[in-house]
Amino acid sequence: KKVLLAYSGGLDTSCILKWLLEKGYEVICFMADVGQDEDFQQARDKALKIGASDCVVKDVKFHFVENFVWPAIKMGLIYEKRYLMGTSLARPCITLALIETAKEHNCAYISHGATGKGNDQIRFELSAYALNPAIKVIAVWRLPEFCERFQGRNDLLEYAKENSIPVAATLKKPWSMDANIMHISYESGILEDPSQSAPDDLYTMTKNPQHAPNNPTRIDIVFNHGIPVRCTNLTTGNTYEIPTHILQYLNQIGGEHGIGRVDLVENRFVGLKSRGIYETPGCKILYEAHLDLEVYCLDREIFRVKSFLADKMAEYVYNGFWFSPEAEYVRKCLDESQRSVNGRVTIELFKGNVSIIGRESISSLYNQELVSMNVHGQLDYTAATGFIEINAIRLKEHYRAYGSTPNN
Ligand code: ARG
Ligand code: SIN
Repeated sequence: KKVLLAYSGGLDTSCILKWLLEKGYEVICFMADVGQDEDFQQARDKALKIGASDCVVKDVKFHFVENFVWPAIKMGLIYEKRYLMGTSLARPCITLALIETAKEHNCAYISHGATGKGNDQIRFELSAYALNPAIKVIAVWRLPEFCERFQGRNDLLEYAKENSIPVAATLKKPWSMDANIMHISYESGILEDPSQSAPDDLYTMTKNPQHAPNNPTRIDIVFNHGIPVRCTNLTTGNTYEIPTHILQYLNQIGGEHGIGRVDLVENRFVGLKSRGIYETPGCKILYEAHLDLEVYCLDREIFRVKSFLADKMAEYVYNGFWFSPEAEYVRKCLDESQRSVNGRVTIELFKGNVSIIGRESISSLYNQELVSMNVHGQLDYTAATGFIEINAIRLKEHYRAYGSTPNN
């Protein structure tokens, strides 16, 4: 029985690898390079040493940015108003590569190290079934046999020691991390108490805004149909056009200015609340720039209905339904809304803030002459009298029937 295990090189998946081998499976490990800071060679050696018959590493960074991160920016996805979903977006991307690799290596089974309490198990498995309904999933953390043996981390550490699995790196950080080119997330461990603030040395992608430079950095970002296509530092003139380079540059400069830290409590799909900390410097910048350009370009009513759909889409993505008929349908609608979202946004980064300081577009509905307070333009301003009169009918009627509204 051949299993393809989504392997991270960390404590959980190393122990799971060993345990699957003990249970008589042949295990191939799979690692997706989604831009996490990882020594893949070392992780691969570790997997082989534990007993994996192979360890496949696939670089999916470019695919991740082009087909998951950029669409998320274009659609304006944000979960519960604050989470840009770096992990939620990476899961379907990783699963796609996992399913492909399982096929290439004739694995009937796939396995992962996500716990039975989280979102990731749902995302991995729903994506897997959507891509290959015949695939068999071994969710180790949900097997009674595994749970009885391992309560949690301490038992795993014990097991790792017994089986001479190296754990040095995992001991230093008393929280769980998930990293990729878009973000790093931190949860569990000492972060489980939402009243306690995180230690400052937790953050890795961003500087504390207090220690950020005293001079702002100005950059231009150009969007085409809602997709970022160019980014220029206005001081140095350095320009980036390759998707991964744009994101990496914005992560670096955003991180330097302390941008994109969020500490929140979120609602997991399974019904639990969980405290999370995120660093998403580059995408925070892109999210704000895109939103500005969108309001500038789009028809007001399209913007409103589009925002509603983006909210639905964020929920689908968070809950693991990236590959689903509803997500495909909504994505098409949202794509349609972005035809006129073209242009350039100028932003200033300073002490943790992204400030928009200018925008320009050839496809915007903005009409300077029409809106100007200095000229009458084409608008018959006397028409506003009737507009207000008609809108006032309802308010006057309310007054007639009930008197003044109670709060004034
Ligand atoms: N709570 C976030 C989400 O559901 C992050 C999950 C992090 N996953 C992890 N295995 N550490 O998207
Ligand atoms: C996990 O439970 O494995 C990580 C957190 C999550 O999936 O929400």
